[in-house]
Amino acid sequence: MARRPKTPKWLAARKAASSAGAAKAPADWLARALSRAGVVAPRSVAELLEGRHVRVQGKVVTEGFSPLFAGDRVEVKGRPVDLSPTTVVLVFHKPKGLVVAGDDREGPGTVFEALEARLPPELQGYGWHAVGRLDRDTTGLLLFTNDEQFVGFATSPETHLAKRYLVTVGGTVTPEKLERLQGGLTLDGYTTRPAKASLRPDGRLELVLTEGKYHQVKHMVNAVGLGTVALHREAVGDLVLDIPEGELRRLTDEEVATRLHYVPRHLRGADGAEDEPSSGSSTP
Ligand code: URA
Repeated sequence: MARRPKTPKWLAARKAASSAGAAKAPADWLARALSRAGVVAPRSVAELLEGRHVRVQGKVVTEGFSPLFAGDRVEVKGRPVDLSPTTVVLVFHKPKGLVVAGDDREGPGTVFEALEARLPPELQGYGWHAVGRLDRDTTGLLLFTNDEQFVGFATSPETHLAKRYLVTVGGTVTPEKLERLQGGLTLDGYTTRPAKASLRPDGRLELVLTEGKYHQVKHMVNAVGLGTVALHREAVGDLVLDIPEGELRRLTDEEVATRLHYVPRHLRGADGAEDEPSSGSSTP
């Protein structure tokens, strides 16, 4: 006889909450809320919970998928913690060689490994998401955040947040090629949005896109008969990369608001909105 599949822990926790008569929707899961708020990094959450160090409404909770409700009192090692939504954004000057998605045991590693090695103590408790992707051989501006809503905002084509790339091309950039790049190209069944394309005095092609399909710059460059020798992202929105390769810095709230056009969550009124886990890359 076929065995009944075991109910996953997260589902059991959700069912328990609703059968306890909880009419209101959970605001978050405990583990996710702790990492979002910078209390404990995702890789250390289980240890903290299993060590019986976390209490919710005065009761020890050991299950990371336990729902949290708005206003729940959470204590870690006997101290109350503030789990209200915050937005932290970091800018990293990605060197060539690091990968954004997946692991890279044979190679130079991932951007998350580079991030962890550079995080100051006060940022080590967060779970991080990369905001969009850069290829292994692409250098330049990569953002990290603890806020999945910001990932959605910055990567959605609806937002029209510009990404500025500099391409060292193989071949000759002509006015006709620039015009084709600007007007929209049909690639693999989709048409690119109108873009800005120009030739820099140093011979590099400057492309400004408001969308980010997989390998989009390389595909666009290829579609007009050029090759990509090197690719660098110089700016996102009105934020221009201003740190040396391999370095990381935290953006101020003002930079997030005025250069990336996103109001940090801790500066808004209570929004209480539940957001879905990000589909982007994030720390394990
Ligand atoms: N487009 C690409 O082709 N690669 C990148 O890394 C970013 C945009």
